[in-house]
Amino acid sequence: MEIASIKSVKAREILDSRGNPTVEVEVVLVNGTTGIAAVPSGVSTGKHEAVELRDGDKSRYWGLGVLKAVEHVNGEIASAMAGMSALEQETIDQRLIELDGTANKARLGANAILGTSLAVAKAGASFRGIPLYSYLGGATANLLPVPMLNILNGGKHARGSTDFQEFMIMPVGAANFNQAMQISSEVYHALHKVLEDKRLSTNVGDEGGFAPRLPSNKDALELILSAIDMAGYKAGQDLFIALDPAASTFYQGGKHHSAHGKYVLSQEGVTLSSTEMIDYYVKLTSDYPVISIEDGLAEDDWAGWSLLTAQLGKQTHLVGDDLYATNMERLEKGIAQKASNSILIKVNQIGTLSETLAVIRRAQKAGWTTIISHRSGETEDTTIADLAVASNAGLIKAGAPCRSERLAKYNRLLRIEEDLGKAAQYPGKKALYNLERIK
Ligand code: PGA
Ligand code: ZN
Repeated sequence: MEIASIKSVKAREILDSRGNPTVEVEVVLVNGTTGIAAVPSGVSTGKHEAVELRDGDKSRYWGLGVLKAVEHVNGEIASAMAGMSALEQETIDQRLIELDGTANKARLGANAILGTSLAVAKAGASFRGIPLYSYLGGATANLLPVPMLNILNGGKHARGSTDFQEFMIMPVGAANFNQAMQISSEVYHALHKVLEDKRLSTNVGDEGGFAPRLPSNKDALELILSAIDMAGYKAGQDLFIALDPAASTFYQGGKHHSAHGKYVLSQEGVTLSSTEMIDYYVKLTSDYPVISIEDGLAEDDWAGWSLLTAQLGKQTHLVGDDLYATNMERLEKGIAQKASNSILIKVNQIGTLSETLAVIRRAQKAGWTTIISHRSGETEDTTIADLAVASNAGLIKAGAPCRSERLAKYNRLLRIEEDLGKAAQYPGKKALYNLERIK
């Protein structure tokens, strides 16, 4: 056996940022090198995602235990991995996919598979004695991402706040990643002050953003503009605003065809058709410095997405999250139908590192932008920070500059920027390269 061969794979049940169980996997190589990874978990989960295996045993953790997934890792997966080289990620991931045997990883569980896939990559990097971002991205991986910080939470992440799930700031005017975090944190704290002055709640939602009770999405945008101003920055120049309405969560489907469904904004008290929802975004992007809209429409409203992109695609990032679920087939359909110009990437939507990297490369080849993303349920694991640099993604979404499971990713990027030294690059506005309004 080679010394980079896998000796053992072991999983355990740990707790995520919401206090719910999730899978952690530890891989040990023959020479003693180890790799450890923890799996994130979403709550506004798309229906086309790979299956996160939960026990459903109501006597433990309200049915959310992951002991079955843990058992799959410790049994079948560990046996299959034993003796394989940790340096051959694609072979490892292919073996995991075959072993599972289903299209959506429902048998072994995408959580069991992803934990293994990521832990193997970490063991491989450690074996080579190099950081994960250079192990995965090679010597040329030097592009830090523009962070998209979700400073105001609504939807399923903060019930009773806005209909839209996420209001993010993008510090494109920063000179480097370090300054991007400084600007963002200053705006975040200014927002705290704005909310206090208005006697609005400063409690935070699942991703660390404030979650005040507000009558409309526009109120949220106004508060953020005030915060940017109070912090001494210029909206539309130093910072842009990005939205994740997570429209699938307020979409009520039609009986026969998704195009007949309705978008129900209950806080605002309005119900809109797909084309009316598009008009809403057209107005919003002309009234506010909103440069990016993720999941503006529902996950199967393909016709709506193509219309939205035809109308706004030259000046706004239209980002498919639930729409693509980091799935190659769905991405190909989106490219063919010109359904968007950007894709959100979540490792646990698809379940292996190799498939994730393939989707990123395909989207980049189509001239789209790619955003590496956390989930609302996170851990101290920082793999996505390295993945963003390794894949030249240009953008990352990891929550507010608040709560350590969010900061773990941003702090890892601060360390990577320092580690890269003079070679480090921060794209700033260039991260919006496929938009005509950006010069
Ligand atoms: P989730 O939400 O992690 O709760 O699914 C994140 C998102 O919709 O982008
Ligand atoms: Zn989303």
